[in-house]
Amino acid sequence: MKATLGQIIARKKAHLPQGTDAFRAVDGTPWPEVFVDALADRLLVSLRSISLPADLHNQLLHTGCCVYLKQLDNDVKLPPQHLCGPELPPRFPISENGVRYLMDMEAGYSQGIFLDQRDNRAEVRRRCTPGSTLLNTFAYTGAFSVCAAMAGATTTTLDLAQPCLTWCRENMQLNGIDPAEHYFCKGDVLHWLERFARQGRRFDGIVLDPPTFSRDEKGRIWRVERDYGKLVGKAAACLAPGGWMLCTTNCRKLSPAAFRRMVAEGIPGARLSSSPMPFDFDGEPYLKTIWADL
Ligand SMILES: C[S@@+](CC[C@H](N)C(=O)[O-])C[C@H]1O[C@@H](n2cnc3c(N)ncnc32)[C@H](O)[C@@H]1O
Repeated sequence: MKATLGQIIARKKAHLPQGTDAFRAVDGTPWPEVFVDALADRLLVSLRSISLPADLHNQLLHTGCCVYLKQLDNDVKLPPQHLCGPELPPRFPISENGVRYLMDMEAGYSQGIFLDQRDNRAEVRRRCTPGSTLLNTFAYTGAFSVCAAMAGATTTTLDLAQPCLTWCRENMQLNGIDPAEHYFCKGDVLHWLERFARQGRRFDGIVLDPPTFSRDEKGRIWRVERDYGKLVGKAAACLAPGGWMLCTTNCRKLSPAAFRRMVAEGIPGARLSSSPMPFDFDGEPYLKTIWADL
């Protein structure tokens, strides 16, 4: 018999790390093309090219939860809409491994955190030590920076979008970290990496988690399948001796083997190890993660 949403949520909740109230509840099973994220006391249902299955809709109505609905679409990227349950403030914190992050249902297509990076954030926190330095590129709301700062590292957070850097500062403050003790750079990642290399600036850890496709400030196009190797090479020039790099991408078109080749070519001689997606992402294993250690 098909498990109910309540049963699925309860089963996954039982295996979450301590201090975690945000996770992928439904990852395409038992409702194909349906993804449900539990975000503290809210649910976010995302649908890929289908309408909401009637039996799931009925169950959502009975959760008593504040439920949002979002269509996953590559062309028209609309924010989620309130579907049912109490209307709660759009901005609220979630917790992950005891770290808090600000979510915003009205911020646009993305709500503040990519849950599929939970284990990688935990590993960044484990790897950072007091006094070490971390460069977080394509930082979005700076979740990796927050984890590194929690471990006592001095972070440099880099993104094209000023609102993302502001959001990162808010995430730090939410965790009692003073953003004034950290660095924030607005602009294109490749441009900044070249600048850091020229200045002889080196980091103990670098996070490379770019979007699959983007345009920089000058309108130049960036594609993971074509440009990731070059990115790793430029980042490698900014890595301190004995440093590490987190190379990750959600690009579905890129096979794990092709991704590994690109990373290996960008940082020759590094020890490479892959890691899987968090257990609650039990559908398609689209996220590829490689840790490169010098
Ligand atoms: C997929 S998100 C990255 C997710 C992030 N690593 C995390 O774990 O939350 C992509 C981010 O990259 C930024 N971005 C896109 N192109 C960029 C570029 N050329 N240089 C700097 N940032 C860029 C976007 O503004 C966006 O915040």
